[in-house]
Amino acid sequence: MKMLETFDLSVEFSGFKAISDLNFSLDQGEVRVILGPNGAGKTTLMDLITGKTKPTSGKVVFRGTDITGMDPHGIARLGVGRKFQGPNLFDNMTVFENLEVALQGNHTLFKALAFKKKKALVDRIYEVLARVSLERKANHVAVNLSHGEKQWLEMGMILAQDPELIVLDEPTTGMTADETFKTGELIQTLFKGRSVLVIEHDMAFVRQIARVVTVLHQGKFLAQGTLQEIEQNQRVQEVYLKEGSHA
Ligand SMILES: Nc1ncnc2c1ncn2[C@@H]1O[C@H](COP(=O)(O)OP(=O)(O)O)[C@@H](O)[C@H]1O
Ligand SMILES: [Mg+2]
Repeated sequence: MKMLETFDLSVEFSGFKAISDLNFSLDQGEVRVILGPNGAGKTTLMDLITGKTKPTSGKVVFRGTDITGMDPHGIARLGVGRKFQGPNLFDNMTVFENLEVALQGNHTLFKALAFKKKKALVDRIYEVLARVSLERKANHVAVNLSHGEKQWLEMGMILAQDPELIVLDEPTTGMTADETFKTGELIQTLFKGRSVLVIEHDMAFVRQIARVVTVLHQGKFLAQGTLQEIEQNQRVQEVYLKEGSHA
């Protein structure tokens, strides 16, 4: 079964088609990168998948369930976790508290708390903190973390919610080369076995994490293949030459 499929998906903003008749699919356990110049519709595609934006026409299917038009909470509850572009933490709360909030969105565990008090929650928080190497910063206020640590904490918060599909919008923006590499490793270890859709433009990072890359242009499918195939694709080269190299 496919983890995610879109069928002739389109959205119009005052007559402008930001996504146009897009047919896309992602396998279970696959890490896929979405490339495309600025304004290609990459973030809009994520908005459509996660329910933030409702399509004008077409369908979004998650694990065989039609989720078209469902609200973001409903889609999240079905098992879709999203990381927006840039840090989105509760700045004045500690690392531990940020994870606590993320976990209390997990209904199953929240119910279990009534019986096992807070033990299950605290154990789970430390388990996730260990996986993003932040145990020693559990009581630090989030605002004091480095840029990389903030992004990794957010990835931990997504993991805590145990989603099957994870959607990340430019997770390495503003990172050093070392932080970027570590983020690639985290995606591979932290989210192992899950399906991941990543918008990204750092080519070293794309090479590190993805086997298949999908390129969008003006809201439409442009090309798909290995990074090597994409780099040699004439239509892709034309688009990037015309519009500059930034994704
Ligand atoms: N809510 C919206 N209202 C109007 N136009 C929008 C909206 N969201 C996106 N767009 C437009 O759709 C196009 C695609 O935007 P976006 O998905 O953010 O591109 P990308 O993430 O690939 O850079 C852009 O021209 C953008 O201005
Ligand atoms: Mg974007």
